[in-house]
Amino acid sequence: MERVTPITLKKMKGAGEKITSLTAYDYPTALLLDEVGIDVILVGDSLGMVMLGYETTLPVSMQEMLHHTRAVARGVKRALVVGDMPFLSFQTGVEKAVENAGLFLKAGAQAVKLEGGSEILPVIDTLISFGIPVMGHLGLTPMKIHSYGGYKAQGRTEEAARRIFNDARQLDSAGVFSIVLESIPWKLAKTITEEVGAPTIGIGSGPYCDGQVLVFHDAMGLTPGYQPRHVKKFLQGQEIFRTAVKSYMEEVRSGDFPSPAHSFEMKDFDPEFLRGVQK
Ligand code: KIV
Repeated sequence: MERVTPITLKKMKGAGEKITSLTAYDYPTALLLDEVGIDVILVGDSLGMVMLGYETTLPVSMQEMLHHTRAVARGVKRALVVGDMPFLSFQTGVEKAVENAGLFLKAGAQAVKLEGGSEILPVIDTLISFGIPVMGHLGLTPMKIHSYGGYKAQGRTEEAARRIFNDARQLDSAGVFSIVLESIPWKLAKTITEEVGAPTIGIGSGPYCDGQVLVFHDAMGLTPGYQPRHVKKFLQGQEIFRTAVKSYMEEVRSGDFPSPAHSFEMKDFDPEFLRGVQK
């Protein structure tokens, strides 16, 4: 079983083979995704929202990201593990970015993902020059939620599309090994995919990207409340979990669980002995 590397992804693009990716934040999920053969596991900063209950990804810290990256890395033998650099871990200076990206690699990731375009090129250049593989992220970059005024599709005007297209070209020239394209029109995503050498991984950006990524909890129907247009539930996870938890409660209350099959025997057990009664 060969490990997936940034080079594998480039080969897959060349061969027209779609790249599959999901997020994971814990050991059992990582183990399962790896076992079924997912190509890329992203320890996304979305963990702040789906695992920790934050309203946005902005509060997520390096400590939180590293804690979950270590757990994921322990479960993975084949997939490429990408650590998502959280807000303020790379924007305040190249030195800090290198240090933080290095911590992701020490935690077991093989690459890091950074949100942003031309404004972070010096950081991307430096990380790559130190041998740290970088995944770009363009389009709707959730760290900019407050300047967008909400989670809105990006690149829908000519000017905005041109900006994203130029950013993709620049990231590609800098040597990123792939680019996440989030919530942009499919025609723009298709044009970028055809233009750049780096594989594009789409989320809410149509079918013509080189691969697709979804947040695990969204895809499994485990995220409560409103779901954005791009999410497809491949499992009704919440309903399934709810039904299972109710069954457990019913069986505990009725005494059906635990049954003898879930209990341990002890031969010749005499309760009188424990109570100190001499025979
Ligand atoms: O944090 C995340 O999960 C992501 C994906 C949605 C691409 O950045």
